[in-house]
Amino acid sequence: MENLFRFHDPQDLSSRRCVWVNGPLIVGAGPSGLATAACLREQGVPFMVLERTDCIASLWQRRTYDRLKLHLPKQSCQLPKLPFPEHYPEYPTKRQFIDYLESYAKHFDINPRFNECVLSARYYETSGLWRVKTASSTGGEMEYISRWLVVATGENAERVVPDIEGFAEFEGDMIHACEYKSGESFRGKKVLVVGCGNSGMELSLDLCNHSASPSMVVRSSVHVLPREVFGKSTFELAVLMMQWLPLWLVDKILVILAWLILGNLEKFGVKRPSMGPLELKNRHGKTPVLDIGTLEKIRSGDIKVVPGIKRFSNNEVELVNGEKLDIDAVVFATGYRSNVPYWLQEGDFFSKNGYPKRPFPHGWKGNAGLYAVGFTRRGLAGASSDAVKIAQDIGNVWKQEIKQVKQRTVARHRRCISQF
Ligand SMILES: Cc1cc2nc3c(=O)[nH]c(=O)nc-3n(C[C@H](O)[C@H](O)[C@H](O)COP(=O)(O)OP(=O)(O)OC[C@H]3O[C@@H](n4cnc5c(N)ncnc54)[C@H](O)[C@@H]3O)c2cc1C
Ligand SMILES: NC(=O)c1ccc[n+]([C@@H]2O[C@H](COP(=O)([O-])OP(=O)(O)OC[C@H]3O[C@@H](n4cnc5c(N)ncnc54)[C@H](OP(=O)(O)O)[C@@H]3O)[C@@H](O)[C@H]2O)c1
Repeated sequence: MENLFRFHDPQDLSSRRCVWVNGPLIVGAGPSGLATAACLREQGVPFMVLERTDCIASLWQRRTYDRLKLHLPKQSCQLPKLPFPEHYPEYPTKRQFIDYLESYAKHFDINPRFNECVLSARYYETSGLWRVKTASSTGGEMEYISRWLVVATGENAERVVPDIEGFAEFEGDMIHACEYKSGESFRGKKVLVVGCGNSGMELSLDLCNHSASPSMVVRSSVHVLPREVFGKSTFELAVLMMQWLPLWLVDKILVILAWLILGNLEKFGVKRPSMGPLELKNRHGKTPVLDIGTLEKIRSGDIKVVPGIKRFSNNEVELVNGEKLDIDAVVFATGYRSNVPYWLQEGDFFSKNGYPKRPFPHGWKGNAGLYAVGFTRRGLAGASSDAVKIAQDIGNVWKQEIKQVKQRTVARHRRCISQF
């Protein structure tokens, strides 16, 4: 599948090992990269997957907390061509999801090159090829050359930690949600959870369940929806309604249902945005929170909701309303960002925020053999749909070229025979 040869870059005096990739090069072995690889396998197209860590689905294996479950029903989270095992519950646990991904990779014979972090990727018009440079954890450098580049590094590649005044003075523990495993280590502690997305809400609940005292920072507004309405997943209900109703109406219905089921949250400090949940997601990528019990703890006062932060000092935090809180630890549940702008040397397809410029459904295909999978802010379902389209697109070109090569070989063979 690959050729190893020595390669000399005129601009780079040191020589590095160079690999010719027969077929597309996929960067990232998370669900998106695996789904694309599986679909390419079905098309008969060879591929190579590069992964910066030493495992598949590193977000799920290394950067998520123990209590995590998929928050959408399993039918919406399975990858193409291989459903979840039938005995899986409606909302699989993190462990079950990882097991599924491991067996998915095995089933489609996907063997990523681990510990290869892509540092740069650039297209060379003269050769019509992508040159992708990596650094391995052992310090070695490699260069991969390919006609197709599939970006599958995810919307959550890097943690976001805000720079808040007095940050360095704080003497307690400070971690990001991606380092949080369980509330066990916070038992009896006063913990400030910064952020009220799905992570902030679930970590606050987990802290409560481990006898810690969380205060959750809600600096603006957030849509909180029940995970289920009358026993049916709210997400599936929204998808169903969107087949017949305009988005604004579906948004109105969702807000009314949330109000009926969850009540008025404003008196607890949780304000609803004026824009509807689906429109907000589409326009600004802000995910609504699906409640799995946090609101009950907010109502009971076990989780305190506080406004934005003004500054930190050695063992306290001052809030924008002037209130000061004594705290032992801080968990930043302040989200993630894409890392594409740091390594992809390209300005047409991806914008500076690391997402494709063209909105859904056009953001999966760029020019010159460049593709993006899992950047439509539509979770695992969106990644699966991108993967199918990408594999079909590359597969069509691949099959066409194989056919042409076969025809040329037969023609050459015939010429040879007629010369005798
Ligand atoms: C806590 C949490 C819970 C979530 N729960 C859900 C859920 O229930 N349902 C849902 O649909 N979505 C959920 N999501 C969204 C999540 O992004 C997707 O589920 C899924 O992980 C996206 O897959 P991906 O392959 O696009 O990205 P990732 O899973 O992030 O995988 C990207 C891979 O690329 C690798 N990589 C990154 N940069 C480089 C580089 N430069 N070189 C080489 N490799 C690189 C990473 O190490 C990683 O393994 C959740 C996200 C978080 C943070
Ligand atoms: N069970 C699950 O399936 C599950 C669990 C967790 C996460 N996820 C998914 O993972 C992705 C990331 O979720 P996330 O919750 O980690 O991130 P997120 O949705 O981006 O939320 C980040 C939160 O941090 C707040 N924030 C950022 N900077 C702040 C600051 N300086 N001060 C105070 N607040 C600040 C934001 O507030 P503003 O809104 O005011 O900016 C927002 O509330 C989402 O797609 C989510 O659905 C899923």
